[in-house]
Amino acid sequence: MAVKIAGIGSYVPEKILTNFDLEKMVDTSDEWITSRTGIRVRHISEPEVPTSDLALNAAKRAMEMAGITAEQLDIISVATITGDYHFPSTACVLQDKLGATSNCACYDLQAACSGLIYSNDVATAMLKHRKHAKYALVVGAEKLSGVVDWTDRSTCVLFGDGASALVLVKDDDDQGDDTLLTTVLGAKGGNAQILKIPAGGSVLPASHETIDNKQHFIQMGGPEVFKLAVTAMASASKAALAEFNLTVDQLRWVIPHQANKRIIDAVCSRLGATEEQVYVNVDRYGNTSAASIGICLDEIVRGGMIKPGDYVLLTSFGAGMTWGAALLRWK
Ligand code: UT7
Repeated sequence: MAVKIAGIGSYVPEKILTNFDLEKMVDTSDEWITSRTGIRVRHISEPEVPTSDLALNAAKRAMEMAGITAEQLDIISVATITGDYHFPSTACVLQDKLGATSNCACYDLQAACSGLIYSNDVATAMLKHRKHAKYALVVGAEKLSGVVDWTDRSTCVLFGDGASALVLVKDDDDQGDDTLLTTVLGAKGGNAQILKIPAGGSVLPASHETIDNKQHFIQMGGPEVFKLAVTAMASASKAALAEFNLTVDQLRWVIPHQANKRIIDAVCSRLGATEEQVYVNVDRYGNTSAASIGICLDEIVRGGMIKPGDYVLLTSFGAGMTWGAALLRWK
């Protein structure tokens, strides 16, 4: 029995926010944003569009590529930090929008920017463990524009909205490997306070005061996150490669989480990856958290830039702090 990726899709809202637009909103410049982050534009949802709608568009594209209907889904996993509600889960909302059956297990997974790597690992294991399950929909979807303080220049220039989705299929007759060869995951809750939305949970429930203090928006110690991200992504990636005795030159693609071009460069230089191996689209989308890696993979697949047998390394880092690396062999 083997699990493979049968379909992939992504979606970003049409509306674009450029660095020049941001120059008019906060004390920043295109020069600063481009040189410090590599970001030029990001896509922003209309206020009334929820995360589940972004997820729905990406999911439909992935399911179309896989050639399956919603009734065939056994698992829906949505990785997000910007779900439609605290509860119900965005996966349940998505189930309803897709028209999936009540036999489908639905859950959200919260590992911030590492969400898709965590979720892909969990859903692959669930498919293998559950005898009658065949198809899993793994989504990373974020409407970060709704949790960004648009007066805080240190964060508002970084994030964008978007979604990506994978359809995983279990083939009982396939005696080969899964597409996902291995996942290395890690977390360090001791650093949790460096990147968070302070209010709205049980520690600091919503109140007039939390709203006045802007505590429902993302707060981040950027330079601290930067250093931790580089170290964790590089070491998780090396650990994933070591498990299969692979060297970096054997990889067709390295797909790092798209938070900052300087982080991507630092991780890839530690790994010894060449420019041709590293996929970068942070300039066009900014940081879309759980969606980012899947958007890259979708562009690679739809652009015909991958073939069976290619090794692909995904790596990410995010709030929690969480991190991960996943080694794939394309089928
Ligand atoms: O998805 C995972 C989570 N997020 C990340 O991975 C992001 C990790 N961190 C980063 O990408 C970078 O740390 C940032 C892009 C957030 C910041 O870049 P930096 O090179 O670490 O800059 P900094 O925070 O050290 O700030 C340098 C200066 C400061 O001014 P002073 O104190 O030197 O006068 C900031 O106030 O840049 C200033 N600054 C800005 N200036 C113009 C901060 N934001 C801006 C801005 N425009 N948007």
